[in-house]
Amino acid sequence: MAPVIKLNSGYDMPQVGFGLWKVDNAVAADVVYNAIKAGYRLFDGACDYGNEVECGKGVARAIAEGIVKREELFIVSKLWNTFHDGDKVEPIVRKQLADWGIDYFDLYLIHFPVALEYVDPSVRYPPGWHYQGDEIRPGKATIQETWTAMESLVDKGLSRSIGVSNFQAQLIYDLLRYARIRPATLQIEHHPYLVQQELLNLAKREGIAVTAYSSFGPASFLEFNMKHAVALTPLIENDTIKAIANKHGRTPSQVLLRWATQRGLAIIPKTTRTELMVSNLQSVDFDLTEEDIATITAFDRNLRFNQPSNYFPTDLLWIFG
Ligand SMILES: NC(=O)c1ccc[n+]([C@@H]2O[C@H](COP(=O)([O-])OP(=O)(O)OC[C@H]3O[C@@H](n4cnc5c(N)ncnc54)[C@H](OP(=O)(O)O)[C@@H]3O)[C@@H](O)[C@H]2O)c1
Repeated sequence: MAPVIKLNSGYDMPQVGFGLWKVDNAVAADVVYNAIKAGYRLFDGACDYGNEVECGKGVARAIAEGIVKREELFIVSKLWNTFHDGDKVEPIVRKQLADWGIDYFDLYLIHFPVALEYVDPSVRYPPGWHYQGDEIRPGKATIQETWTAMESLVDKGLSRSIGVSNFQAQLIYDLLRYARIRPATLQIEHHPYLVQQELLNLAKREGIAVTAYSSFGPASFLEFNMKHAVALTPLIENDTIKAIANKHGRTPSQVLLRWATQRGLAIIPKTTRTELMVSNLQSVDFDLTEEDIATITAFDRNLRFNQPSNYFPTDLLWIFG
């Protein structure tokens, strides 16, 4: 079993979980079921991934077969940008819970710090970034309005913990001034090319656990033909990472994951290959040296892949500007 991180909400969160972005609907139920059999207990989902119904079927099968109990799982989901209005949060969470076939989330995150105009689920679900065609319509909700609605999810038992994703320091400082319930976690893009040390320092000081996403760096973004992802040598083929891996008798991917967990972060790698599920989960059973960690941290280039302007042309959305 993966080690756990104690959250400021009092709950334990597995340090190694399983990411669900880009897991095809056709295989998602089997992937989740196989991941539970491989030992995963945390699943990182989202409205935007469009596969919560199928992921829930994988969970239901594992529970029905007695492999795991609901209370042994840690199910994470996220609020999409079009549901930021205070009165839209609870209804969409109830829909997402129904899709998963569960009655509470362990952790529910604001996916991105940007509000877009509401799209009714009966019109299109998941709604995506565009209101219609290529039009992006900003919404009116402030983060304070959204966070207050997130807090009421905890009050009503719909989510045990709440947190944020893709937030940077300025907005976290602001949120902490009015939060009645502090964010338990911050989920961010984090890999050797995007270390964000000062943001990590802030989270540590404020008692907010950090989850790293896209731990393999450009690997997850090659399918979008992002120029700066394609131009780089994949991290798992990098000679320095390979040399560190060989020294420890591990794979380069395990080195990338261990670099993050040894620095205190949680990880949520995604793979549909069962043998890699096991390998990623086992990345916590060895230790890098302080020197290895410093060598990998020095890869930092402040290079971000996951931002709207890398996916589609936009003159409206620069979330990380
Ligand atoms: N909050 C956010 O905005 C946000 C954004 C992005 C991601 N996330 C979350 O973070 C999770 C992980 O991020 P991610 O999906 O971008 O990428 P990732 O886990 O860094 O990388 C996934 C890619 O690496 C491959 N892979 C996985 N394990 C491997 C291994 N041991 N050796 C070689 N290749 C391996 C996978 O291939 P195969 O699948 O073909 O095996 C896939 O192409 C997501 O699934 C999602 O839950 C959140």
